[in-house]
Amino acid sequence: MEQQQYDFGMIGLGTMGRNLVYNISDHGFSVSGFDKNEDQVKTLVKEAPSKNVTSTSSLPEFINSLKKPRVIMFLVPAGPIVDSVILELKPFLTKDDLLMDCGNSHFTDTDIRTTALAKENIHFMGVGVSGGESGARFGPSIMPGGAKEAYDRVAPMLKAVSAKVNNEPCVTYVGAGSAGHYVKMVHNGIEYALMQLLAETYQLLKDVAGLNNDELHEVYDKWNKTDLQSFLVEITAEIFTKQDDLTSNRLVDMIQASAGQKGTGQWTSQDALNQHIPIPVIDIAVSARDLSALKEERKQVQQNLFTASPELAPLSSTEKTAFIDAVEQALYFSMITTYAQGMSLLYHASGEYKYGLKLDEIAAIWRGGCIIRAALLEDIRSIFAKHPELSNILINDGIAKKLETAQDGIRTVIKKAVDASIPVPALMVSLAYHDTYRSKWLPFNLLQAQRDYFGAHTYQRVDRDGTFHTHWETK
Ligand code: 6PG
Repeated sequence: MEQQQYDFGMIGLGTMGRNLVYNISDHGFSVSGFDKNEDQVKTLVKEAPSKNVTSTSSLPEFINSLKKPRVIMFLVPAGPIVDSVILELKPFLTKDDLLMDCGNSHFTDTDIRTTALAKENIHFMGVGVSGGESGARFGPSIMPGGAKEAYDRVAPMLKAVSAKVNNEPCVTYVGAGSAGHYVKMVHNGIEYALMQLLAETYQLLKDVAGLNNDELHEVYDKWNKTDLQSFLVEITAEIFTKQDDLTSNRLVDMIQASAGQKGTGQWTSQDALNQHIPIPVIDIAVSARDLSALKEERKQVQQNLFTASPELAPLSSTEKTAFIDAVEQALYFSMITTYAQGMSLLYHASGEYKYGLKLDEIAAIWRGGCIIRAALLEDIRSIFAKHPELSNILINDGIAKKLETAQDGIRTVIKKAVDASIPVPALMVSLAYHDTYRSKWLPFNLLQAQRDYFGAHTYQRVDRDGTFHTHWETK
């Protein structure tokens, strides 16, 4: 009997890989899975919702089960494991096979892999996939990059499995080379910043407004029906209601307050620094996680530098309502500056790395399926559709008006936080970014004078052209 040939291969049958396989098979495509772990191999077929799924832990069997030219996706941890998967696959691959790395690989690795494999007539695509477990199963946002011809081969499947917003699939051809992984990296940088901002608003509402978990749930739930509507606000609201299984407390109160990270936020900051594109809200979000993780040092500092936080007088009910409204404005203001920074990094990276990104399309595919999906992306999408060459959305009149309306709120909240010794670094940096960006004058004449003083770095004058150097020392 002739062996069945499958449309797609999937390497890595962990939670994400398995759910993506099921999603693909739901849309009428057949998928063959491979994993070295026998348990994962068995689980894939056992839990498969349809019959068009198979799996094996034998690489030759896997390879032979695929239609030619093959399309092999992988969802394995980023880094050396991706290289070892490629190395093991290579002897079996033939001309025009297409490999799709659907994990969070660093974009520079993707470029190296694409170039190396192209020499052997193997196509390689870096594909950003966002949405966690349920996104993979029922519709992620997909950011595929690489050769357009390669994308065209898999576009029908990607469109079918992706999330949909107003019937539009949350996938588009992102751009050449490592564009897909670059865009996913920036997505994650924005994710880090939004999560940090939400954490800061949580502390303010808890400590200044004195809200309990039920009240916190109500506030975030209400916000999720406003301009702040987004996946992260939605899950934040839900988190406050979750009961702990082991105690009578809410689970959120039983979780250690020190954050982990896998590196994608840090990569975003590193690359932005390399290109000299300011994304300070993302930077501070990475540093805040780092600070939170310095548990031992923080304990020592608490003993040495401890000064009692000022006793916060309980707010009257009118003050409380006004404060919650101000926090809402502060969050909206800083959400805008966060997306502005992420999009401006993409704008510049597109030129630097010749990706040819279309920012309206990227905003569009982030409206559904992914972790940073938010109502605001609809506005951002239409701004870039009208002004594809806009380097920063803060330049747009509509966005300027939104910031204008929300700025009293963020200023009030930051003042309150300072008085109460509550750290709100991301909110502060959001405001500082805005204030710096729109300022008519900045004090960098002094800085240039200092550079010229100690290093003869020269300066330009306000009243005439040319480059100047002064012998500054007066003594
Ligand atoms: C997504 C997420 C995901 C990311 C995790 C963990 O879009 O589905 O961005 O890809 O890896 O959220 O990130 P950290 O462990 O770095 O917080």
